[in-house]
Amino acid sequence: MSNIDSINHVTGKSVYLDDIPVQKGTLHAVVFGSPVAHGKIIDINYSNAQALPGIERIITCKDIPGENQIGGIISDETLFAEDYVHFHGQPIALIVAEDEQAARKALKLIDINIEEKEAITDPRMAKQKGLFLIPPRTFRMGNISGSWKDCEYIFEGKVESGGQEHLYLETQGAYAYNGENGSIKVHSSTQGPTIVQKTVAKVLGIPMNCIEVDVARIGGGFGGKEDQATAFAVMVSLASYLLKKPVKLSLHRSDDMRMTGKRHPYSSDFRIGLSEEYKILAFQTTMYQNGGAAADLSPAIMERTLFHSTNAYFIPNTEVTVYSCKTNLPPNTAFRGFGAPQGMFVIESAIAMAANELHIPARVIQKINLLQENNEFQYGQIAKEVNIGICYQKVEELYDVGKIEKEIKEFNKSNDLIKRGMAIMPVCFGVSFTNTRMNQARALVHIYQDGSVGISTGAIEMGQGVNTKLIQIASKIFSININRIKLESTNTSRVANTSPTAASSGADLNGNALIIACNGLMERLRATAADMLSCAPDEIKIQDETVFRGRKKTHILWEKLVETAFFSRVSLSENGHYATPVINFDKSVEKGHPFAYHVYGTAIITVTLDCLRGTYEIDDVLIVHDFGNSMNPDIDKGQVEGGVVMGIGWMTMEEVLFDNYGKLITNNLSTYKVPDIYSVPKVLECHALKTKGPKLAILKSKAIGEPPFMYGIGAFFAIQNAIKAFNPKYKLEYNAPLTPEKVLMRLYNAY
Ligand code: MTE
Ligand code: HPA
Ligand code: MOS
Repeated sequence: MSNIDSINHVTGKSVYLDDIPVQKGTLHAVVFGSPVAHGKIIDINYSNAQALPGIERIITCKDIPGENQIGGIISDETLFAEDYVHFHGQPIALIVAEDEQAARKALKLIDINIEEKEAITDPRMAKQKGLFLIPPRTFRMGNISGSWKDCEYIFEGKVESGGQEHLYLETQGAYAYNGENGSIKVHSSTQGPTIVQKTVAKVLGIPMNCIEVDVARIGGGFGGKEDQATAFAVMVSLASYLLKKPVKLSLHRSDDMRMTGKRHPYSSDFRIGLSEEYKILAFQTTMYQNGGAAADLSPAIMERTLFHSTNAYFIPNTEVTVYSCKTNLPPNTAFRGFGAPQGMFVIESAIAMAANELHIPARVIQKINLLQENNEFQYGQIAKEVNIGICYQKVEELYDVGKIEKEIKEFNKSNDLIKRGMAIMPVCFGVSFTNTRMNQARALVHIYQDGSVGISTGAIEMGQGVNTKLIQIASKIFSININRIKLESTNTSRVANTSPTAASSGADLNGNALIIACNGLMERLRATAADMLSCAPDEIKIQDETVFRGRKKTHILWEKLVETAFFSRVSLSENGHYATPVINFDKSVEKGHPFAYHVYGTAIITVTLDCLRGTYEIDDVLIVHDFGNSMNPDIDKGQVEGGVVMGIGWMTMEEVLFDNYGKLITNNLSTYKVPDIYSVPKVLECHALKTKGPKLAILKSKAIGEPPFMYGIGAFFAIQNAIKAFNPKYKLEYNAPLTPEKVLMRLYNAY
């Protein structure tokens, strides 16, 4: 089934925040952000700004009736700065005006006097100064200190990975207006409507039931709207609460890039020890996460880095520590992969270094260390239904890795100024929110008396196709045509206490809640049919909109059945609640069973490098991926393609740069380059591994949103191998992104 949104997207009919017709008298807001990254506010004079025609009000921390606090995991983030500012662009005030133009004019007239302080942008520097967002955490398995003596080879190195701008097509924004009796309705471009609802309630000092958050869809989130949509939704809610008028805000791209957090840059040290047969016996790493000025989701992201620090390998002795460092950057946040890519890049760098020093292909080391059935992860979970070995073997066979290697060798021999390179990237990604409590969802289903169906869940559609999957589920359980089913907007008054749509579990969690609700309704409909046919309910089957008694088709069709149930005063509404079984995690010992299952796959990436210019092209990305039993191969393939390209972007061309004062230099699309149609791989093939799929995946169809992102890491090593082919003296540096600029330096660096 194709995505239900496709036609409306391409014909421009899909409704995003900016397409919602606004009420008459709607005011427009712009955010006044700090002009420096760190400092003490001495004085602010708003009078000139306030005096401009069209300015309704300038709102600051002093106007907040509840708490000036928006921190989700830790209460360490104000909505509007009070005495200090901690990052460039940190919201200080909200200018509310008749139109955006007036508000923007007023921005320039605010007189602010700040005593500037040193801005820390480097996580290692923050560590030195003892600046942490939370205490460090360590995951351990085996006996690391005792295992080095058994290692034949030991290598040490340093790894750097950069930030990444989400660049969702729709920038952050929200629209709020007042209802009766002090209630507020908020349209927000958020992945987490309940987080918005809860935070608006906290800041306004009113109960959650006064706030209704509604999201039809968002124009991409990629993690950037899991937490960071909240501030903007709270701002417009606060403004409309104070002014009793509708207020809208939609960030300009450069403000969005400047004010919001990105993927966490990490700086890491590793030590890896191998046996004579290249078995990895020991792996130790210390990572410094650049958290930015407030915790945001950093603690959870740190956790996923810890979980995925050994990627798809079994390493008997491991110790990994992550420091979450407080710097003067916008609070960094969730981004596809959620800390896992940063961890995986370190272990892959360690393997690449070992391979390089030992003069063997990295795949020799990768292969003999792959996770096997019943191996223990460093967090205590026992690996089950492990498919990484099969994926790796299959990708090697299907695409004939030996032949690719040989061709590249021959090509490199006969070409002086163009070199090719290849790398293989295995991936193992755990599915579930690492925070066990968040793995729950609800769905509300109404069957209307004409047989049409309305579905509400907590899932947010952000282009990943979750709404299509939900319709497929309802259509399958009810055995009715998809045309009968409508997916409602995600609304906190219909479905309450939702987890954000994140951790790739949107379809798993909400889909399972939906199955439970649909099954409840089906039971009642079967009872109705049994009454109509004077037989037992377990004789009844409903298939293709027709009631069957045993194997025999009856004259009762779906519409008649529903109408009869309604006239018999049977409830045609149902609420389903799902909580992922089995999972648990004990932080006091850092052990447990946090994931419902793991997603596996392996990619081969080949590149061609122009050694005069330092520019490169990604040639082939050849993947064998374990989808389980994919419920929608078209959508899942789209997720693989998008994920891979995004991962390649992070590793190669996307470079987030701040100056020494903590000001973002790459604050628009002329200075920040994302992959475009010309830089995507020439060939992207994804072969689906044939598997049954795990019980805990929705209809045995594995989560797909994030795992393919990490195949992109292979591009880094493929380019590195091409550089090495040109410049044998190149001393491998594990510093991403590997931009053409850096490549050029490395091609000609003699060290
Ligand atoms: N795909 C599109 N088109 N747009 C997005 O914003 N977000 C990604 C992924 N794929 C995203 C996307 C991220 S970060 C996650 S966690 C998942 O989708 C969330 O949706 P799911 O849980 O339904 O897979
Ligand atoms: N993944 C994504 N988002 C999250 C998670 C997670 O594991 N935990 C909290 N938010
Ligand atoms: Mo995705 S980073 O879990 O929103």
